[in-house]
Amino acid sequence: MSQPNLLLGANIDHVVTLRQARYRTMLESPNAEPSVLAAALEAEAAGAHSITVHLRADRRHIQDADVHLLRRNIGTKLNLEMGNTAEILRIALDIRPHFVCMVPENRDEVTTEGGLDVCGQRDALRATVKALSDNGTRVSMFIAPDLDQVRASAEIGAAMIELHTGTFANHTGPERQAEVERLIAAAALGHELGLQINAGHGLTTANLPDLWPVPHLAELNIGHHIVSRAVFVGMRAAVREILDVMATYGA
Ligand code: PXP
Repeated sequence: MSQPNLLLGANIDHVVTLRQARYRTMLESPNAEPSVLAAALEAEAAGAHSITVHLRADRRHIQDADVHLLRRNIGTKLNLEMGNTAEILRIALDIRPHFVCMVPENRDEVTTEGGLDVCGQRDALRATVKALSDNGTRVSMFIAPDLDQVRASAEIGAAMIELHTGTFANHTGPERQAEVERLIAAAALGHELGLQINAGHGLTTANLPDLWPVPHLAELNIGHHIVSRAVFVGMRAAVREILDVMATYGA
């Protein structure tokens, strides 16, 4: 397998979306499947560098027990995506994931639609970043490629930013190109400010090459596409497919 120079966080939320579609009210059933842990171990076996899950306030997919199970049993690193609420912070402090990515959360959204407004919630986010960092977790801010949000993320003490690539992924042509320019500027500023630069949302084997002009990328978090491909080719092959494209970054 080719060796990528950037890391893959495999987001397996939608493996659990499938389990919840049938077993939401009977998670104790011996039939409750697919297994979140088996999915994580398959992704790791294929070369994923970390496992990402989003424990949402509405628990629409990942459940508390899933996060505990993964924390105890995966061999790589756990990246927990979370909204900034007291309840989820308590859980994160207890579970001590290797990484946390702070995300905006809105009950009616289908998925995380925009970036976190770090500028507008500096004090609340600074306190959460400190609590998590003091507890041994590296913290990232999931933000739009907006220079003010990059500066605010550095200022409140985040170690990393994850640039939201949803606009990039969901457009083509000149609109996508314009977004690439915004991503380039945000990545360059973040790097200059000492932040690790990650990216995620809507990334696929097809659109990744268009992202490659963005400098300083350290890690990509990819979920929907991996799980969708896994339906047809299996989790290992789906992860390998994306890693093979990732290996062309900076080539
Ligand atoms: N990064 C963050 C912070 C996210 O919230 C999501 C969606 O859960 C992803 C990455 C992955 O996005 P996708 O499932 O579109 O690959």
